[in-house]
Amino acid sequence: MNTQRTVVLLKPDALQRDLLGEVIGRFERKGLKIVALKLIPFTDEMLDEHYAHHKGKPFFAALKQFMMQTPNVAMVLEGIDAVAEVRKIVGATNPRQADAGTIRADLSMNVPSNLVHASDSETTAEEEIQRFFDKSDLFTYEKITDRYIFGDGI
Ligand code: RTP
Ligand code: MG
Repeated sequence: MNTQRTVVLLKPDALQRDLLGEVIGRFERKGLKIVALKLIPFTDEMLDEHYAHHKGKPFFAALKQFMMQTPNVAMVLEGIDAVAEVRKIVGATNPRQADAGTIRADLSMNVPSNLVHASDSETTAEEEIQRFFDKSDLFTYEKITDRYIFGDGI
């Protein structure tokens, strides 16, 4: 079983539009385990690092401004192949090109306000956990549903 941890940010549009419960609920219903959850107020420096792959692009400054409008809800989710499974549930970057049934297609219309960020690889997930979380933010625990969700021995 390939258990992974991945980072999800619920961006300012999710908070402003009262969609935090809806979005978190989709991850919960899939069976992903929340192993960290907190509000983070981003700084310009944190976003320079987080969005380094967009540095120099015309939308870079606006993207950072958008992300600083409110605190973001930051989570670490754990599950089998969690990085790819979360990206699948989140959908394509442009909500109008995302598949129906994904968070971005069902609940949003445009960038940068596409509701969520999700780590794009295991390496990125590890970097983002280091960037946004302290060791004490992260928890390991068992749920009585683990056997049903992750399938061990049933
Ligand atoms: P994310 O990092 O947020 O999970 O999104 P992603 O991997 O699907 O897309 P990425 O290329 O990493 O872009 C990060 C965020 O930047 C905004 N964006 N705007 N105006 C544009 O063309 C544009 N392209 C990207 C989006 O908010 C995207 O989620
Ligand atoms: Mg990305």
